[in-house]
Amino acid sequence: MSNNTYESDLPFDRLDSRRRRELAFKQYQERLHIPTEALQKLTDAFIEQLELGLREKQRSSLLMLPTMVDVLPQGQERGEYYSIDSGGKNIRLLYTRLGKDKHTVEEEKVEVSRVPVELHKVPVEELFDYIAKRMISWSETQGCAIAERQRPVLGFCCSFPVDHHALDAGSLIQWSKGFENPGGVGADPAKLLREAFQRQGVPRVHINALLNDTVATLAAARYLDGPDAIGSVIMGTGTNACYIEQLGNITKWMPRYRARTPDMVVNIEWPGFAAPELPVLEEDRALDAESNNPGQQQFEKMTAGLYTGDIARRLLLSLAEDGELFSGAVPERLRRMGAFTTTLMNLAAEDATPDLARVGAVLEEAFGLPAVQTKPDIRREVRQVCVLVRERSARLIAAMIAGILRHLHRDRPRTAGGELPRTVVAVDGGVFVRHADYRAEVLAGVRDILGDAVADRFSLKVVEAGSPFGAACVAAAADSYMRVAGGSLNFRPPVHKLPAVGQSR
Ligand code: GLC
Repeated sequence: MSNNTYESDLPFDRLDSRRRRELAFKQYQERLHIPTEALQKLTDAFIEQLELGLREKQRSSLLMLPTMVDVLPQGQERGEYYSIDSGGKNIRLLYTRLGKDKHTVEEEKVEVSRVPVELHKVPVEELFDYIAKRMISWSETQGCAIAERQRPVLGFCCSFPVDHHALDAGSLIQWSKGFENPGGVGADPAKLLREAFQRQGVPRVHINALLNDTVATLAAARYLDGPDAIGSVIMGTGTNACYIEQLGNITKWMPRYRARTPDMVVNIEWPGFAAPELPVLEEDRALDAESNNPGQQQFEKMTAGLYTGDIARRLLLSLAEDGELFSGAVPERLRRMGAFTTTLMNLAAEDATPDLARVGAVLEEAFGLPAVQTKPDIRREVRQVCVLVRERSARLIAAMIAGILRHLHRDRPRTAGGELPRTVVAVDGGVFVRHADYRAEVLAGVRDILGDAVADRFSLKVVEAGSPFGAACVAAAADSYMRVAGGSLNFRPPVHKLPAVGQSR
């Protein structure tokens, strides 16, 4: 099981090493715990960047991408739709029949599978061929064969930053989360998928919506629950958020299509959020330097599922090296990037068993440390590190959410003396969905930053697997709009007076 150098016969509780660890912990606590005042400053910095990103292209670390989604599903969409959600560890395929009655789903089939890591780096056409093939074969096994439909309508959720030219077209700005397929950046993901279906002999697939997962999650919440949610946050392999903005505030951009509503969903693209107020630690820098995209997406690397386990690993490694956490032994796997996943970190953080048996099992699985040899007080220290790393992630996310609320004036009554508005933010992604404690930590952070009155009116709504369902809903909404309007969603007569400056399209 283990090829590590762990030896149980070394003296475990030598005072000097324990003392060293105590000091190290104190330091970790000071460095990882972000006090409320610092969080508030971070929220201010975030709002500044958010508003700058709405005004100007390329000057803000937040991309603030208009998504071309100006009408969200309302729950009365009907019919048969497909969707594909790709852009993380998993790929999700979905077939659904939206029901006759509002907000209902008559049938739904979903498949979730891992994207083989070998596909993270192959030419982009190969990745898309794989995706198209999976949809074709899976839908056949489910009795809803996409290849046999006359005009299958498909929403494509592509969870990377995309500069949209239309609801169903855009260009990929960059890869993240370990993907780096050549030929992808600058290409149109919807076109790549269409061409992949063509290569597989299924040319009739009508991809009419290309969406970020944040937007798809918001759309799912709207379809299922009505108009409460004003935005969404993803916390899974990666992290990001979107919200509904007034078109008039997106002054850097002028849509070349007839706006149907005064609003537009904006994809914040916060993985790259940068500000002097962001407390970046030496472990964060080390992780960044070893990642496949150094210098990019620092915020995501401090918070999201692909990375937080590794931050905890780095802290545990220092404790093992300097503080003899494992009786002076340093298991070889403890030095390996990726050996400690965020899933394991969360399992350890949530262990409430009296002897911390789960932490023991986690240490065995991740680093090959036999559970019989890790004593409860060692396990307690390991759990504490995991809790600290996770809590930092939650508080950083809370600072961003508080920023959205403040920007939208959801932290004050609409009229003097009136009631504070109720605000719902939809959430999805493995960390949010599987870890109630993480959600509670985010809520507590929002409470710390904005106070009890605002926090009492604020809630997170879990929309599990919201992305594929939401993508199908937006495809449905676009399809029914096209049928009624009898044309393309992306027709171009500009009804706005184009501004002389500040116009990016
Ligand atoms: C990444 C992508 C972003 C996506 C997020 C969550 O950071 O850049 O577009 O929404 O992951 O999947």
